[in-house]
Amino acid sequence: MLNILLLGSGGREHAFARSLSMSPRCTKLFIAPGNAGTSRHGTNVNLSPNDFPGLKSFVLEQSIGLVVVGPEDPLVNGVTDFFSEDPQLRHIPVIGPSRAGAQLEGSKDFSKAFMKRNGIPTAAYATFTYSKLEEGYRFLETLKPPYVLKADGLAAGKGVLILEELEEAKQELKAMLGDGKFGKAGEKVVIEEFLKGIEVSFFVLTDGVHYKILPEAKDYKRIGEGDKGLNTGGMGAVSPVPFVDAAFVQKLEERIVKPTVQGLRNAQIPYCGFIFIGLMNVAGEPYVIEYNCRMGDPETEAVLPRIKTDFVELMQAVAEQKLDQIRLETDPRIAATVVMVSGGYPGNYEKGYEVTHLDRAGDTLVFHAGTTLSEGKTVTSGGRVLALTSLADTLEEALAASYAAAKAIQYDYAYYRKDIGRDLMLMDK
Ligand code: AMP
Ligand code: GLY
Repeated sequence: MLNILLLGSGGREHAFARSLSMSPRCTKLFIAPGNAGTSRHGTNVNLSPNDFPGLKSFVLEQSIGLVVVGPEDPLVNGVTDFFSEDPQLRHIPVIGPSRAGAQLEGSKDFSKAFMKRNGIPTAAYATFTYSKLEEGYRFLETLKPPYVLKADGLAAGKGVLILEELEEAKQELKAMLGDGKFGKAGEKVVIEEFLKGIEVSFFVLTDGVHYKILPEAKDYKRIGEGDKGLNTGGMGAVSPVPFVDAAFVQKLEERIVKPTVQGLRNAQIPYCGFIFIGLMNVAGEPYVIEYNCRMGDPETEAVLPRIKTDFVELMQAVAEQKLDQIRLETDPRIAATVVMVSGGYPGNYEKGYEVTHLDRAGDTLVFHAGTTLSEGKTVTSGGRVLALTSLADTLEEALAASYAAAKAIQYDYAYYRKDIGRDLMLMDK
């Protein structure tokens, strides 16, 4: 008997809820706080993932035997340490790194220093605080445009600026360090060399000693077609990615995955969970753009449906540090995910619109992101509303099925990009 608590409320968590609930090992699944979609796979609990005392009471009341953490903020806030330091909770495994491990995402300066120390390929960089503003200007002058400025801390995905002009880069550096443009997150700024290439998201699951490389995905971050306009949490995903071949994965494993897991061990940083490696493929060579201490969203909605291994077994192997004993089985088909959002997102948007025709999605998996149940109806409650995933033998077929579902599902002011995966279809394999 195993009762599981999953933390989070997005499309990623709906995909986790589906995979966990499909396992015969899962007795009861609870999702805190969940959304209208997760409630189909378990019981939503009205608790914030950051309310640690609330989680403690709930976990003890419901005899929870495994906690899976979706988003980064409870990890950066130390939910894993909270469990491991509490005598009543210590025996309950949490899938998600310690606060120290979550710094791979929580601090750009930490993650860059970690990469440098462990010889992991990444863009050249330097870190500056307000007292070193002038040195920051001098460093910018040594770089070629475009200039990449990154707020050190978590800034809801908005803390990275890419600027064409040197003067503009200097002004922005001053705005971040001197005028608090990103608040505390911008008190330190990482300036780095611009890497030219194609991005791909890799996911590693580790028990702290062993690891598995999960299927990769390509994410579509901008709101507009042709990758134009504002950055969003992600407008679509495709997995696998055609330009990722065995030679590229081998480079990734040798140069990045092994030194990352070993580097965490050497630093005695406990890490049981997912490492999301944002990579740039620069002429066939992998460079780390960023680490995240969690799975990606919407990449999870494309990746998890391709994992055939019992997902609870996989999580238990992580908890027991036996990941080497698991065979990771994946579905060779292609997953294409199209995200439906609320018109206006990532800026201001209205919510509370009823979502209808959810039953017309055919075989497409409908993952809920920003939805809630209101008087028995599913209504929009966020910017990203649904993630629609289809699996097929070709990318064309998978995309066609996801787009057919997007067309069928209705709510006011729905928007989605029509060009997800198009770049991959055009690309020579
Ligand atoms: P990050 O939050 O670090 O992933 O940065 C956000 C986005 O900025 C990335 O997904 C890349 O598209 C872009 N980016 C970040 N760092 C670099 C870099 N050094 N060179 C080129 N693009 C970058
Ligand atoms: N899709 C990018 C992220 O989850 O950060």
